[in-house]
This record gives sequence, C-alpha cells and structure tokens, in this order.
Amino acid sequence: MSSPSQLSSWKALEVLAQKSADVSLSSLFEKDPERFDKYAIELPYMLLDYSKNRIDDEVKSRLIELAEQSDLVKWRSRFFNAESINKTEQRPVLHMALRGSVDESLRIDEDNISELVNNELAAVKNFVRQVRSGEWRGYTGKWITDVVTLGVGGSNLGPQMISEALRGYSDNRFQVHYVSNADGVQINNALTTLNPHTTLFIISSKTFTTAETMRNANTAKHWLEQCGANQGDIKNHFVAVTADAARATRFGISADNIFSMWDWVGGRFSLWSSIGLPIALELGFDMFARLLDGANMMDKHFQTAPFAENAPVMLALVGIWNSTFLGRGSHAILPYDQSLHMLPAYLQQAEMESNGKSVRWSGEKVDYSTCPILWGQLGINGQHAFYQLLHQGTQVVPADFIGSVESVDPVDGHHDLLMANFFAQTQALMDGVNERQVADQLRAGGTEEERIAELVTHKVHQGNRPSNTILLDKITPESIGALVAMYEHKIFVQGVIWQVCSFDQWGVELGKMLAKRIEKELHDETLNPDHDSSTRNLIDRYKRVKGE
Ligand code: F6P
Repeated sequence: MSSPSQLSSWKALEVLAQKSADVSLSSLFEKDPERFDKYAIELPYMLLDYSKNRIDDEVKSRLIELAEQSDLVKWRSRFFNAESINKTEQRPVLHMALRGSVDESLRIDEDNISELVNNELAAVKNFVRQVRSGEWRGYTGKWITDVVTLGVGGSNLGPQMISEALRGYSDNRFQVHYVSNADGVQINNALTTLNPHTTLFIISSKTFTTAETMRNANTAKHWLEQCGANQGDIKNHFVAVTADAARATRFGISADNIFSMWDWVGGRFSLWSSIGLPIALELGFDMFARLLDGANMMDKHFQTAPFAENAPVMLALVGIWNSTFLGRGSHAILPYDQSLHMLPAYLQQAEMESNGKSVRWSGEKVDYSTCPILWGQLGINGQHAFYQLLHQGTQVVPADFIGSVESVDPVDGHHDLLMANFFAQTQALMDGVNERQVADQLRAGGTEEERIAELVTHKVHQGNRPSNTILLDKITPESIGALVAMYEHKIFVQGVIWQVCSFDQWGVELGKMLAKRIEKELHDETLNPDHDSSTRNLIDRYKRVKGE
C-alpha cells in the first residue's frame, strides 16, 4: 500500500492548506450565516461544533474524500468484525464488544465474544453487590470502607478519570483511592490513612508484570501482613484484574478473586472491562452499565452516520487538517468542568500512545506528521496560566473546549460564570482584536496618543486560532461514556488515515528494559562500562550520595 500522501485528496488538501494561510475564521462566519449548521453535529447527550476551524466546504469535502480513499468503511468493518487489525501484535481490537457493540454471534477461535463479556460483567455485578452490601468483609469481619486500585497507564487513567468525572453520582459508600506511581510516597500516603481490616486492594494489570504495579502490590501485601494478617487472610483483601490469571495466582490471589480481561482489549481502551471495577464499586453497577450504554450509542453512531455527520470521523478529519496539513504540532484539551480535570491526562495516553508513531503499517517511514502533542488542564485555571500563549504566542494551538450546559452540583451563579468564560475564550481565540480596535478602546478610555502608540502592538490579539467545542447537556454516565467512545473512534480513524499501527506501544518498551538493568546496577558494586559518560556519572553520583 502506498503512502496516503500519494492520494489525490491528500495532494488537493496540501494545496488548500497553502491557500488557507490568508483565510480569516471570522470572515468565514461573516460570509456564511449558515456556517454553524454546516459544521456542527447534534448527538444524544452532546453537541460537537467544529465550525471555528479554518475549513470551508471544499476542505470538508476533500477531507471526507480522504477518508473514503483511505478505505475507512472497510477498515471500520474489519475493526467491528474482529479482524487482526493490531498488526504488529497479531490481534483483533475489540473494546467495543465490552459495551455490547459487536454482533452477538461474533467468535474468536472457539469463544463467543458477547458471552465472554456478559459472563464477566455478571461476575463484576455480583462482586459489587457483595462488597457494597457487606456480604464481603475483611478478615476480621469488618465491612470494607476503602478500595485502593493499584495500576498504571491504561489500568489507572481510565478508571480514575471516570471516578473523578462521575463522583457527583457516588453515594460515598466507599473511599476509592488510586495508586500508580513507583514513588513510594504515593502508596505510603494512602496506607497511612487506611485501616487494614477494612481496605480492599484491586491489582489492575493486564500483563501482571508491570514493575510499578507489582512493586505497589507487594508493598500493600507486606503492609497487610505487618498489620497482623496471615497469608490466608489475603483473599479477603486482594482481587486482581488481569489477562494473566496464572501470575495473579502465583502472587497469592485466589482464583475466585481474579477478574478476566483479554488480549483483544488494549490497556488504554480497557476502562469498559473489569478494569472498570473500581468505578462500579464506587458508583454501583447500574451507573457502570449506564456508562457502557453511552459508549454503545456512540459506537452505533460511528458505524452508521454518513461521514459528514459522523462526530468521531469529523473530529478526526479536522484534527488531521490542523496537524498534518496546517502543521500545528500540539493540541490542547481544555475541560470547563471540574469533574473532567483528568480528561487531558487520559487523552494524552489514549491519543499519543496510539498514534504517536512514525512508521506506516508497511514499516516505511511516514513522509508527513502524525499525532500532535496533546496537553491541557482545566480551562478556567489555564486562562490564568498558559492562555497568554494561546492568544498571543508564536504558535497556533488548536484546542478542544469541553463543557456542559447543566451542572451536576449547581452553586448559585457559578456555572454561568464558568460557561461565560468558555464561550468568551473560543470567540476571543477566533476573532482576536486588531490595532485599530485596540487604539479605539484605549482612546475611548481617555489614554493619550503617545501611550496608545507604545501599547497598541502589545495588546493586539491576532485571532484566527481554531477550536472545537464539545458541549455536553450534563455530565452523566451516558454522556461521559459517549464522549470517551467518540475520542476512541477519532483515534481509530486517524490511525487508518495516517496508516499507523494505533494499537501497539513498542515505544514504551526500551525504557522499561533499561530501567530493569539499571535498577540492578544501583545495588551492584560495578557499573556497566557501556553506559555513555552522562548516564554513568549520574548513576555513580546517585550511588555515592546515597552512600552505596
Ligand atoms: O507501558 C505502557 C503500558 O503497557 C500501557 O499501554 C498500559 O496501559 C500500561 O503499561 C499498564 O500495563 P498493565 O495493565 O499490563 O500493567
């Protein structure tokens, strides 16, 4: 398969990108009163408005042509029909099956996928009932009050992000804690507040080999033993979610306490599986089921809506337009809802671990840029920190603004203030303010001409900075499920067009392997002579200062 840069739509987009250098976003709105209707998509639970991007009808139709020429329809059906689209790991990719979005007769080898998923969901539901009702107790007969999830990356970010997003729906039956860092400070901080008789640990690790998670799991087990528990008591306090039950059993977890996941669920797409157990424990199983329903709605939309009205497809295409064709190297995720504060971190892994690649399926190097750097934080805090650069810096940073119409926890006047800022920012980024407008404003305020001349260029905002708006009706399990699934499908579409393997992550392996070797050296007498002088001296200094 040749490079997508050889496609006629790609070449046409390159020409359009050059032409669009002088296009002003505000003038696109002035020229076309229907612009919002053309470039917004209404969905259950949300609206996607991508009209504040430097696109017009021609760019839009060429982008759609690019999706067609990239065989997106065929790839989408390969995806939903369990073909091995994770090429380098030779596996299908089926996180949509976890929310009931594949054909009920779908099989992989001997296994009926829907049956596997439903059985596992039933096990999660039963466990949640046991723990929440007090049927499941700690080894001294006390009710569980705290749940600690030990996991990292996809085994942490998804569940924690959802826990935070939906905390407004919690009945506070438990305190749920997440520990991901190898830094002992994090687990120590958690353990010092916990009672060993009432704490349940979930070891969440698809591979059950991830060093950080295993170190935390051993520390937690040791803590429980030090507090008086015997080996046999561990079963009341530890459960595991993993695709490698044998390793979990060797760790000492009884077979009844191991929840399964499968190699066709990638870590960063796994929150819908038993990896979501802490969400179900915290909020109750029904809330978890509603989250899956929201994602299922988005799966159906993705599979059936024409490209021009398909939210994940258009989000992906506009993203490619900005990054690959207009050369925007970064993309900001700016939630205006406190509960979504972890969304930027979650999407960083989802997008960058998936599409942060520079070779094509064929193994050849790409001759275009792929995934931009994703970053961001709560928009309202960002306004008082880094928005200066968004408005007046030398780089143009496209952004996703995500907010909701109705607050889950309304406090007099707060939500309107928040959302007024949201709308104002997307408008200001687009319209900016020119020299004449700045001078007029200063003059109207009585500023002297000499001072106006000094100030004017400093106060100019060039504008023309693109953004998407994702406006949820309200944060609910369904809307969050749909939102996350929309981004998941965006990632898939972009991977298809860029021709990169979106479902592997070889780029994280080298560092892991070196860390294993270096950890040994930190305790050995000798140092590996093959290290470069910087690494050698740093390790040497670490050991000397530590006194080893
Ligand atoms: O190192 C990256 C990674 O492999 C992620 O893809 C994954 O989500 C995370 O580590 C955790 O892996 P595991 O669930 O196997 O512990």
